[in-house]
Amino acid sequence: MFPYSYWFRRRVKEDPSARKSSHQEQEDRSKVPHSNVFIEFVVYPRQDEERQGGMLPRQESHLAARIRELAEDRNAIILAHNYQRPEVQDAADFLGDSLELSQKAAKSDAEIILFCGVHFMAETASILCPDKTVLIPELNAGCPMADMITIQGLRNLRNEHPKDPVVCYVNTSADVKAESDICCTSANALRVVESIEEPEVIFVPDKYLAHYVSTKTKKEIIPWKGFCPTHIKILPEHVTRQRRLHPKAEVMVHPECTPPVIALADKVLSTGGMCSYAPKSSASEIIVGTETGLLHRLRKENPDKRFYPASELAVCPNMKLITLEKVLWSLEDMKHEIKVPQNIRIKAKMAVDKMLEGI
Ligand code: 13P
Ligand code: SF4
Repeated sequence: MFPYSYWFRRRVKEDPSARKSSHQEQEDRSKVPHSNVFIEFVVYPRQDEERQGGMLPRQESHLAARIRELAEDRNAIILAHNYQRPEVQDAADFLGDSLELSQKAAKSDAEIILFCGVHFMAETASILCPDKTVLIPELNAGCPMADMITIQGLRNLRNEHPKDPVVCYVNTSADVKAESDICCTSANALRVVESIEEPEVIFVPDKYLAHYVSTKTKKEIIPWKGFCPTHIKILPEHVTRQRRLHPKAEVMVHPECTPPVIALADKVLSTGGMCSYAPKSSASEIIVGTETGLLHRLRKENPDKRFYPASELAVCPNMKLITLEKVLWSLEDMKHEIKVPQNIRIKAKMAVDKMLEGI
């Protein structure tokens, strides 16, 4: 049997920079002069070939191809966080943790950064790249932990500890970054805290990351009381159960997990740290204590190893709001642009730059 299906698609020759959305294209179709129309021959694998060897199902494969085509036309780079849906991860140019994505955004020479992640991540890209257009496919993809702290709350805490510098986790709004002295991510939180001269630091907004850092440093940490609603779903009994089921497995967890979960782990790592560590580990089975989206990448990059989620409940609904369709619409309609006002951006950038300089 012929292993490919195909269809013909009517396309309009056009200036890519003046490209219209699929909705507008439909409306304008009847007005297009005949000489500007060409027929495109599209080939894709048949259903029975699908999802084998990592191949995408037909619909996804078509969407991904359209996304790649449009990203090239628009000189856009697609950055995706490790918790994104598998098909979104597969369509991206670059996958990473919060730190790696900020660094990639800062170095990219693309005109458009399409950020598949939560709002603060796109904001960080905008803080670092004010001349680029930063797009997020879904405006509602926020981070509840980032929303647990307000500027007024931070100012009040600062007034109580006027001599203490403020370290803000990257999971904060641009406003909160602008009120902070230095930013950090889960990959470098301890290093950032240790780089500060003062013996006491304010750490916002994640109390569990703050606690984890406090166990590794002599500095006094004054935490804000935020937390990640996804990581607290991972319970110690989930880890113990998985250990019982997979006695040879190593356990790696994210520092946003609660202290009793961290106490059961062999390694405490950012999502990027987990991706670098997994191939180096001598274990052939690994229990992963973080958002379950990371398992797609770990399995894809380490086909000879087995990965088990510490808990199937650890799903971040905000990360999952971004779908392949929304990525395409975002590029087609150039929506939704994230732009940080200049007065906030300059102050927030000082905190982010200070972190990046220390690396
Ligand atoms: P990473 O920087 O480790 O990818 O973590 C980001 C995040 O939001 C974790 O919940
Ligand atoms: Fe925020 Fe937690 Fe989701 Fe990360 S996993 S984006 S910290 S809610």
